[in-house]
Amino acid sequence: ADSLRALAAKVGLRFGSALIPSDLDTPAYAQIAAQQFSVVTPGNEMKWQVVEPEQGVYDWSGADNLVAFAQANGQLVRGHTLMWHNQLPNWLTDGVANGSISATELAGLLKNHIYTEVGRYRGKIWQWDVVNEVFANSWDTPTANGLVSTDFWIQNLGEGIVYDAFRWAHEADPHALLVINDYNITGEDGTNAKFDAVHAWAQKALSQGVPVHAIGSQAHLDTQYGFPTSMADDLRAYADLGLKTAITEADVRTFVDGPTTQVPTDRLAPWAQANWWAGMLQAALSSPDCISFTVWGFCDADSWVPGTFSGEGAACLYDVNLNPKPAYTDLQSNLQLAAFGAP
Ligand code: G3I
Repeated sequence: ADSLRALAAKVGLRFGSALIPSDLDTPAYAQIAAQQFSVVTPGNEMKWQVVEPEQGVYDWSGADNLVAFAQANGQLVRGHTLMWHNQLPNWLTDGVANGSISATELAGLLKNHIYTEVGRYRGKIWQWDVVNEVFANSWDTPTANGLVSTDFWIQNLGEGIVYDAFRWAHEADPHALLVINDYNITGEDGTNAKFDAVHAWAQKALSQGVPVHAIGSQAHLDTQYGFPTSMADDLRAYADLGLKTAITEADVRTFVDGPTTQVPTDRLAPWAQANWWAGMLQAALSSPDCISFTVWGFCDADSWVPGTFSGEGAACLYDVNLNPKPAYTDLQSNLQLAAFGAP
């Protein structure tokens, strides 16, 4: 049967995965990464903590590896991520905490970071996740525009820094598609409160000429909560603002019997998961402005889920031994149907 990337190409969608560049040394991993996906994202290697561990000391090795792999395999790259409260270098957060870095200096450092990183890969990045996870959840105290008031960047520099980040990224690579990326923004929280905030923020940003081009919905799903039935409508509502949309970090976690074997405890789980994957794909396919569908790592051995959600895992399309799971086959047949119609 055809690969996910080949089938998705027939319907104008890029099918992608986050990759761990060091895993590309494993031939079986590299083979799947090259054959199945037409766009790749570094899971960690473009984050500030990794690229500038000491101030002024850069390590681009992982990011360079991934970009070279992508170019060798005819893949596009999603850059991830320029402004995020997490995985910041200690020199930066410590400097702010002890007062040796002022607010003005902090803004200058962010601008320099964005210019340096976006500039280094100018012309080689299809989409940049410029700003990551700034929108308030139900447990956060929101700002006037629905951002997290305690977010490192918002707290130190105010809401306007989000606009600045987009302007700087656009100056550094005028052709890159600039994305605002977040989770629970296509109905996963069951209330649509976060969707409303993102939608209103994007509308305002566009009215002020801020170069934001796409909404990235991470789409980390969990079978213990309901399927986000508003996903398709929400994607279309973002598109109605004149924006592209992308599924940027898809996975579907469930309860498992242990982090090593990752066997779901509920024997129906693989089938439920497959249905949810198919539901996400259908939401993407039903929104013509949805340009890419990226999974957050393709195999369970690499998934972030067990390290974050105790007792949960099995969230990916391939198992720990790199064998495709029912979710993979289901996505493949859904794409087949979308591309060629019923047999
Ligand atoms: O590289 C160090 C290693 O040297 C050290 O020995 C080891 C010990 O803990 O840690 C390693 O760093 C880990 C890093 O991944 C690389 O493997 C960090 O502890 C670990 O926290 C980090 O997790 C990443 C996580 O972001 C951090 O928040 C995940 O791999 C990555 O998949 C995940 O991705 C995020 C997206 O960027 C944004 N959206 C949510 C998504 C899932 O959390």
